[in-house]
Amino acid sequence: MKPIPLFNLKAQYQSLRAEMRRTVLKALDSGAYILGPEIRAFEEEFARLTGSPFCVGVSSGTSALELPLKAMGIGPGDEVVVPAFTFVATASAVCATGATPRFADIDAGTLTAGAAEIGAALTKRTRAVIPVHLYGRSSEMGPIMTLAREKGLAVVEDCAQAHLATWRGHQVGTFGDAGAFSFYPSKNLGAAGDAGAIITKSRRMAELLKELRHAGQREKRRYLYLRVGTNARLDEIQAAVLRVKLKRLADWTARRRKIARQYVSELKDLPIILPDLGVGSTQHACHLFVIRLKERNRLAEHLKADGIGTGVYYPIPLPYQPAFAALKHRRGQFPRAEEAANTVLAIPIYAEMTSADVARVCSRIRSFFK
Ligand SMILES: Cc1ncc(COP(=O)(O)O)c(C=O)c1O
Repeated sequence: MKPIPLFNLKAQYQSLRAEMRRTVLKALDSGAYILGPEIRAFEEEFARLTGSPFCVGVSSGTSALELPLKAMGIGPGDEVVVPAFTFVATASAVCATGATPRFADIDAGTLTAGAAEIGAALTKRTRAVIPVHLYGRSSEMGPIMTLAREKGLAVVEDCAQAHLATWRGHQVGTFGDAGAFSFYPSKNLGAAGDAGAIITKSRRMAELLKELRHAGQREKRRYLYLRVGTNARLDEIQAAVLRVKLKRLADWTARRRKIARQYVSELKDLPIILPDLGVGSTQHACHLFVIRLKERNRLAEHLKADGIGTGVYYPIPLPYQPAFAALKHRRGQFPRAEEAANTVLAIPIYAEMTSADVARVCSRIRSFFK
């Protein structure tokens, strides 16, 4: 039986091989490796595709989260609310500014932190919140923005898993002060290495981000350091790779959504919880297709025996991680994050997957319940 991995970067590369090699060689031949024409073009194209006035390319999704917090002056003594159930970078970006992450439990249905959970985590020190559009499902941005405006909080959206996801007709990343994207190779838009970007409506924020990623200096005024920055530039070769893939992102996302709908239709009568893919103008990016069931470890083994890949995103809620032990959280404090950590299972989804592959995964899952 042909293996069906959780995602398949080789299949994607094969479909683009000639164009990708041409583009990378052109970038190499150009001799312009830092802040060159490919980055500028990518920033314009990504801004246009996401419906955002400004885009700043950076070195990873992690720096895409850190830099806007730093640009807003968030630092020691401040708190930033993040979900208890997300990839570690959402919280470590807060620590990198010197501020403290304050964890919010998640909603049991959406697996994202909504206005109610974020509201319960606020203190006098809270300066900002980072909603995470987990697996490609947008957080409930309307109520979150209302709460943020009422409390005077900054909002940085973690869009690392949610390229082109929408909430009521608007793309994720366009609601808050900044939207942070990762182009880690397995993301819906992935580079050939590490890369990220920030979108924002604010010209001033975009200028600050450009200075911060470039050692604190303006591109046209070298060796005058306006602030303490870092080196977090997107590099030219990655920008060239991203431009080749960006042209396909809408089609790939449409294909992912079709696969997700096939999964829902073939699995809906089984005793598992399926993701809500959204309706109308609220659309999932289908980065991961995550089902929930108590026997998830046994199902993972059952699928593995047939060459089908699975993944657990994420097995331990962040408040219980050793890295955050200083915050002194106890098991039981984030019950819905714990429940999710114990039951989630990602099954294969990538644009090159055929409907026969999807059907095979479904029939193997069905056989588990027989
Ligand atoms: C939700 C989330 N936030 C942040 C990141 C960090 O992105 P990167 O790995 O590009 O630094 C990732 C990706 O791994 C992610 O999934």
